[in-house]
Amino acid sequence: MNSKEIREKFLKFFEDKGHTIVPSSSLVPEDPSVLLTTAGMQQFKSYYGELDPDKTIHSNLGKPVGKNAVSIQKSFRTSDIDEVGDESHLTFFEMMGNFSFGGYFKEKAIELAHEFLTKELGLKISYVTVFEGNNSIGVPEDKDSAAIWQKIDPSIRIEKQGMEDVFWGPTGNSGPCGPTTEVYFENAQGQDVETWNLVFNEYFYPGSREELLSGVSEKKLEKLKTPGVDTGMGLERIMMAVQNTKNIFETDLFTVPFPNLIEGVDVKSYRIIADHLRGSVFLIADGVKVSNKGAGYILRRLIRRTIVQAKTVSLPAEALEVLFNNAIDFYGGFYKGLLDQKNNILSIFLEEQKRFNKTLDVGLKEFLKKYPELEAQFIEPGKPLKVHQANKISGEDAFYFHQTYGFTLDTIRDLARRGLHEIDIDEKAFEEAFKKHQEISRAGIERKFGGHGLLLDTGELKAADEEELKKVTRLHTATHMLQAALRQVLGPEVHQMGSDITAERLRFDFTFPRKVTPEEISSVEDLINQKIKEDLTVNIIEVPIEEAKASGALTVERAKYAPMVKVYSIENFSKEVCGGPHVAHTGEVVNFKITKEEASSAGVRRIRAQVAD
Ligand code: SER
Repeated sequence: MNSKEIREKFLKFFEDKGHTIVPSSSLVPEDPSVLLTTAGMQQFKSYYGELDPDKTIHSNLGKPVGKNAVSIQKSFRTSDIDEVGDESHLTFFEMMGNFSFGGYFKEKAIELAHEFLTKELGLKISYVTVFEGNNSIGVPEDKDSAAIWQKIDPSIRIEKQGMEDVFWGPTGNSGPCGPTTEVYFENAQGQDVETWNLVFNEYFYPGSREELLSGVSEKKLEKLKTPGVDTGMGLERIMMAVQNTKNIFETDLFTVPFPNLIEGVDVKSYRIIADHLRGSVFLIADGVKVSNKGAGYILRRLIRRTIVQAKTVSLPAEALEVLFNNAIDFYGGFYKGLLDQKNNILSIFLEEQKRFNKTLDVGLKEFLKKYPELEAQFIEPGKPLKVHQANKISGEDAFYFHQTYGFTLDTIRDLARRGLHEIDIDEKAFEEAFKKHQEISRAGIERKFGGHGLLLDTGELKAADEEELKKVTRLHTATHMLQAALRQVLGPEVHQMGSDITAERLRFDFTFPRKVTPEEISSVEDLINQKIKEDLTVNIIEVPIEEAKASGALTVERAKYAPMVKVYSIENFSKEVCGGPHVAHTGEVVNFKITKEEASSAGVRRIRAQVAD
């Protein structure tokens, strides 16, 4: 049986047993205390206790759900993101579950699970677990569940476990929770795999799971008036049992949409690409946009890591596009909404790919220059790395690539990894370099403020506190962008003659023989706002002044420079010798507007401009 048949079988089985089929809710949940939907029960949370499931109109269904429900829920867990690449971890997955809000409880829930697994799917249960009890939170051992399993199958092995494993919830800041019983089966490699989690929500906890587990919180578990059932079974894992595969990546959920990835490409990269690409498709379809915070940042990480992995295994950019198409077509067979969103999903991916590829290419080139022995591995992916001094990436280097190109440790590790051959990064030294950098910038800020006004190295910026420093920093980057745009629109005769930045505005004096026309002003503004929209990385390198000048970095005439200088560049748009500070990405400037253009002195024009909040 394939995954589509299993989904249908699951829904039909429970529908026949009096459950309402409820569509998956969005990955972006209504409950603001959770970032993404991590479990099937989330859309039903308030039926355990508060709301009447027979009367309340369910927003996702458009009518009351009734006491028993079944769903296949799109779920996303960030907790395992670093483990992806092994045999079983995923970010996105599909959770099949049946739920009851006062309809039935332990006995029927266990009977249904047993019947579905053994009769419908013909699987053999390896063993089950039940809750051993916990005195400090006052929940007794779950003897009922053990007795029910025993009755159904006297030969079944029952193990007792504690809070970490078999006590579910609550999700978010508070919610229903209770003991669970979990079902294990044996996979093709003879390993026991957890497959179905049956939660018996008997309690409500007015705090988070962390508070509950901490054992020190004053908050107490309350008994729910009507106890409920919440079960969850990962589709990927059950497919592994049904199709008798060694791991989830060999089920049709991965082999059909990503067929050519199996061959030739190193297995860890393949799994990361498959997982992250699939996750990106579903996040975008549910309205997540690439950004630097929240769910948008998760999406950015997924897409960027997919791109890095593709690069390390020499998978061309077009191949990724094909895989996106495959995934949308395959999963669109069940999640119809994906098909309508095909263009949108692809264009969001392609836009981020374009944005990131530029930084990645430049960064990778420099990375390979530093670690040349890795280059051969790029040409022949999968070949084991020769033992070499670069078996370790130094913390300083890692920090440098982090600062300069925005590479996360993940990215650096991915770039350095060959097959399953991991290369160590000196993470301790990385952390130290990071801390040192923070201390230096903090000391810098204190020195600059010293309780009075602020004058930076260049004498251009003025700010009275940290809030203002943020604003002038944005204006400072905007000044670099302004000079670059002026040179592009008016010509290379434009040179900085002066600059003055307050928290309200920037003022920029430059050589130019005539008035700048309104059309030219608009072109300059449009160009800058375009570069802001592209959210380009602002890079810093420290080099000898001669090297900086030779590389074409702009300097200010007559200024005195130290032997070593910082060069700030914004991809191939802008490059200047400067003391900083600057924002990390042009997107932080938000919006740029010229407010005035006038003569300053003979042959020198003056522009005032602002950035939006
Ligand atoms: N909420 C439980 C889980 O996610 C059962 O569905 O495992």
